[in-house]
Amino acid sequence: MTELNKIVLKIISNGKGILAADESNGTMTKRLGTVNVNSTPENRLLFREILFSSECMQDCIGGVILYDETIKQISSFGKSIPDLISSSGAVPGIKVDTGAKDLANSSDEKITEGLDGLRDRLKKYYELGARFTKWRGVYSISNKYPSRLAIRSNAHALARYSALVQESGMVPIVEPELLMDGEHSADVCLSKTSEVIKKCFEELILHKVDLSGIILKPNMILAGNQSKEKITSEEVSKKTLECLNNSVPSEVPGIAFLSGGQSDLEATENLNLININNNTNFIMTYSFGRALQQSPLKVWSKNLKDKEITQKTFNHRAKMCTLAAQGKWVRELESK
Ligand code: G3H
Repeated sequence: MTELNKIVLKIISNGKGILAADESNGTMTKRLGTVNVNSTPENRLLFREILFSSECMQDCIGGVILYDETIKQISSFGKSIPDLISSSGAVPGIKVDTGAKDLANSSDEKITEGLDGLRDRLKKYYELGARFTKWRGVYSISNKYPSRLAIRSNAHALARYSALVQESGMVPIVEPELLMDGEHSADVCLSKTSEVIKKCFEELILHKVDLSGIILKPNMILAGNQSKEKITSEEVSKKTLECLNNSVPSEVPGIAFLSGGQSDLEATENLNLININNNTNFIMTYSFGRALQQSPLKVWSKNLKDKEITQKTFNHRAKMCTLAAQGKWVRELESK
């Protein structure tokens, strides 16, 4: 087993999943704005350190993805944020892309940037304690999208990023996210997601990336949020498994889904069924941002000093997701 593979397994084994707390300051300002909290560095740190010092960090959360501001902050306990995370047994990670920008000659689509100077930035993040990283390619779905140009250019960037990250001794999370916005059916989401993921692996292989040392972070297969089609969680799980079965090489140890705008409950129920029906050798877990944080954020915004209730809410969500990552979640547990 390689060092990279060991890191992967430490993050996602035994029902553990990833807390994606890597919102950029712009995104975090929007999130805090929805609950009327001022987006200052102090408030961003306060909310995050409450999460990072919760009990579930030991049993449920295997890794935390941080943003550049947070990885350099010192918690009120006097420890650096990566030390606070490591002391609970979880692995600190870092988002290293610099965001999705308009793609030239297809300006309704995006290309993710951040390759320039990446090798040096990775060295610094390693010194700060990071052992895994994230890069998100984002694609829209419509009749013409994602275009071949968006599929190829984002796959190329994801592969170059992954190779540099492994060279620096860290595990890359490879995140191609097809957005749920639109009127498309779940079957269209399935075929386009498969095409995107296949292209990513073609490039990863070309760039000699060790597939046993990555985590794939895809979207689940859903109907568009403006589609008339309503599909059950059972269908979501079957279509998601079909997609991954036909597009992910077997050397990949694990898949950690993004929540992508699903409600907490939808994301949890879908993950649970994916695990119940899992006919692959991949570990299937979560790397949720909103589906883990939106309920604790709401509670916290009512009283920024009430750490206990915020942690209780976060512990509950993380526990539900960890049960779902083992196919052991049942709806009744939500109200306990
Ligand atoms: O890149 C996306 C985030 O890491 C996951 O966020 O679960 O809210 O989609 P989400």
